[in-house]
Amino acid sequence: MIALGCDHGGYELMQEVIMHLEKRGIEYKNFGTYSKESCDYPEFAQAVAHAVTDGVCEKGILICGTGIGISIAANKVPGIRAALCHDCFSAKATREHNNANILAMGGRVVGAGLALDIVDLFLDTPFSEDERHIRRIEKIEA
Ligand code: RB5
Repeated sequence: MIALGCDHGGYELMQEVIMHLEKRGIEYKNFGTYSKESCDYPEFAQAVAHAVTDGVCEKGILICGTGIGISIAANKVPGIRAALCHDCFSAKATREHNNANILAMGGRVVGAGLALDIVDLFLDTPFSEDERHIRRIEKIEA
């Protein structure tokens, strides 16, 4: 189950992500926002972050205008490793190296084509399980 959250700046791109997940048969839980009306990104970041840390969802995807505010907010929740990615290399590397559990993107930064490739890499790339990466992740939480 993938937790989804966005603000008004990420709303349109999130609709593309939702259609893509449906095409792929991937289950999701949408924490909003549900329209283009102006709203506050920390609320959606926190809802998605807690769904992940509570174990309700295995990963999350967050989208605001830049991806910056919503990733900063999500990363305040202990246990969350939210990665702001606007390229495929970073999306793959953050799963392999950081075991990122939330992908953040900016709806005003990337087009849907690239964003959906980034989503696929984020969802399909396993954590490397390398000792050095485990050690570094543990140091983040310390
Ligand atoms: C909203 O205008 C915008 O500030 C927000 O979507 C995001 O980019 C914040 O980091």
